[in-house]
Amino acid sequence: MAVPYYRPDLRAEEIEEVCETLRSGWLTTGPRVARFEREFAAAVGAETAVALNSATAAMHVATAALGLRRGDAVLVPTMTFAATAEVVLYAGATPILVDCDERTLGIDLDDARAKIERLREGALLDLEPDTSVVGVMPVHVGGLMIDMTELREFAAELDLWTIEDAAHAFPASYRDAKGWHTAGQNTASVSCFSFYANKTITTGEGGMAVTSRRDLADRMRCLSLHGLSSDAWGRYRSGGSWDYRIVAAGFKYNLTDVAAAIGIHQLARAEEMREARREVARRYDELLIDLARTGQLELPSEPADRRHAWHLYQVRLAPDAAVDRDDVIRRLGAAEIGTSVHWRPLHLHPLYEEAGWTPDDCPVASEVWERTLSLPIFPTMRDAEVREVAAALRAAIV
Ligand SMILES: Cc1ncc(COP(=O)(O)O)c(C=O)c1O
Repeated sequence: MAVPYYRPDLRAEEIEEVCETLRSGWLTTGPRVARFEREFAAAVGAETAVALNSATAAMHVATAALGLRRGDAVLVPTMTFAATAEVVLYAGATPILVDCDERTLGIDLDDARAKIERLREGALLDLEPDTSVVGVMPVHVGGLMIDMTELREFAAELDLWTIEDAAHAFPASYRDAKGWHTAGQNTASVSCFSFYANKTITTGEGGMAVTSRRDLADRMRCLSLHGLSSDAWGRYRSGGSWDYRIVAAGFKYNLTDVAAAIGIHQLARAEEMREARREVARRYDELLIDLARTGQLELPSEPADRRHAWHLYQVRLAPDAAVDRDDVIRRLGAAEIGTSVHWRPLHLHPLYEEAGWTPDDCPVASEVWERTLSLPIFPTMRDAEVREVAAALRAAIV
């Protein structure tokens, strides 16, 4: 039986709302985007949400709103997708790549401190020792949140802003001494979510920037639409004005009502879909636990102080496994099972190698990524499909 890496869970409500949007004649940013923003902000417990056409756009306008500029540097985990560091480069600033925690793949703050130390000693790439490090952009890999309380304390100590790459982390939370905190609920200066096709809720392409700071929200909204003054949003309402003012060199990043039509109903089912993914994760655990006990495979976990979004179910081969990860992927591919890898760390890509990064700069990520693969996990996955994947994985490694 073929099992795709991902199958979106789209139902009659989404389809009907999209048709309704088309019938309404209002295709671009309008009432459905406004509703999606309100309901998303309420779902994470944030003051304001600004809808954009991707998480990349959200992180870009967030860095711009926070004043990132040429010559600055930002701490970015190497274990992430291209976008997190790319938006730093857009500003002419430098991403300082930070190693990951061996177990969670989240940013390693000890390494972040060590990298800053190297920078101050003039021993990090060709950066000037007085380069100002202005921000940090943690990533919740796979939907497992890092401890944002600790991250914010670290940021406060170094006077850094925080942009949380929460592309995988909806809905997700962590618990600290004060209780539970949802990604986006004041967990960072700006929290950025993705609604790309295979994300935990989707609008096809889309994103959301969430903040409790009104000034940042206004600036991000303005930058998302060509830097037009905020009252230009009246253009999108009936009776809106042609008389806008350009106040910044902005971008064209607004979300459409057609996309928001999908998002509204995905959002309403977000908890239900998370439960379904959690059940898939639980079944994988059951079916693969013996391989974990014999040390052949490491499985992901949901610690008691985390609510995992289960965007990814990443497994890891033993360091001395008889087969290598790429062989396992090939064997699963031959069995028509889709897999993915998250990720080749940034410092091992040509763009960053050319900037001077070497495998030894982030040794944990350099080692673990080669043993890691992501199995199919999606809300409509049938038990027979989970069993098929687990059996094929077992056959590939044992
Ligand atoms: C960690 C992470 N950040 C950012 C993004 C970018 O999201 P988008 O495609 O919505 O721009 C992705 C996309 O896969 C991602 O995995």
